[in-house]
Amino acid sequence: MLYSKIIGLGSYYPSQIVNNSTLSQIVDTNDEWITTRTGIKQRRISSGENTSQMALIAAKKAIHDAAITKEEIDMVILSTITPDFFTPSTASLIQAELGLIDTPSFDISAGCTGFIYCVQIADQFIKSGQCKTILVIGAEVLSKVTNWSDRNTCVLFGDGAGAAILKGDEKEGIISTYTGSQGDLQGHLTLPAVPVCNPFLKYQENNRHQSHIYMNGKEIFKFATRIMIKSINRVLEQSDYSIDDIDYIIPHQANIRIIDYVSQKLKVDKERFIVNLDQFGNTSAASVPLAMDEAYRNQRFCKGDKIIMVAFGGGLTWGAVLVNWTI
Ligand code: ACO
Repeated sequence: MLYSKIIGLGSYYPSQIVNNSTLSQIVDTNDEWITTRTGIKQRRISSGENTSQMALIAAKKAIHDAAITKEEIDMVILSTITPDFFTPSTASLIQAELGLIDTPSFDISAGCTGFIYCVQIADQFIKSGQCKTILVIGAEVLSKVTNWSDRNTCVLFGDGAGAAILKGDEKEGIISTYTGSQGDLQGHLTLPAVPVCNPFLKYQENNRHQSHIYMNGKEIFKFATRIMIKSINRVLEQSDYSIDDIDYIIPHQANIRIIDYVSQKLKVDKERFIVNLDQFGNTSAASVPLAMDEAYRNQRFCKGDKIIMVAFGGGLTWGAVLVNWTI
């Protein structure tokens, strides 16, 4: 039987740190409210670099970490809701920058669940034997689509990119995957269009840009807690493992209260959840790979650990991946 294994990871985040007290100079908010309601202390905000530039750096780091040549990559799948353009895809921009010849490359849009969808698609291409080595990326410049005058949403988001190399192997790697979507809930989280510019850079003199993320926070909160638990249970049901066998859960980094709720309901110790939202906020499709790469660099994982990635997002979408850690 053929499995896909994660063989390398990389990430990138902008150097500009925007903390909660900086935001309190932009909108009527404060560190205490943001910290207690979300767990977020700061986020990274692009100083002008676009999604493809951040994705490229993360991809190069993942290629280096995997110790492969870039020519071995036979597919590029990228998830973003903040592409540089609608066409060409951001994946095609990465393919060109890496100098890959004829490699199929495409973006997918599944909101904050995007990286999970990418991994599931890559896993299927590898298991079917059509591809051997796939570059998957989640990358966002959410500051382009954040309404910097809306305190309900602007405190939540950040920018970043995370990438992974998946490769076919006979040893167990990705054990099970699960994704879902409920389009009739679309109105709770919307983004009508994506500008190329970054309004955060100009928020003081010009915030006229019209296309922003809209979110019904209360509905998303209820949805997120229910669907994270369902997704985790579903990947376990598709495997021979139970929740007690799981060493770590890497959740979408949206809100610490969502993670706390899931931890309590599943009776999984908080220590077993990978959390870096205090430093980066919610980076949508980049959130899970960014957290995974940071934990990996900090040597949190051991070979053979059983790890679940789980996310929810615009669509509304959701999904999870159960993986046997191999790097
Ligand atoms: N600073 C200060 N006060 C604020 C702020 C802020 N940044 N934002 C809202 N408030 C106020 C509200 O105006 C309201 O005031 P009022 O009572 O006078 O009307 C009060 O705080 C309470 O607002 P709520 O919306 O009830 O706050 P809640 O506890 O629900 O927290 C939050 C809001 C953090 C958005 C929460 O609903 C949430 O986390 N939802 C989950 C959604 C999520 O995490 N989404 C991430 C992005 S989507 C995704 O990743 C798919």
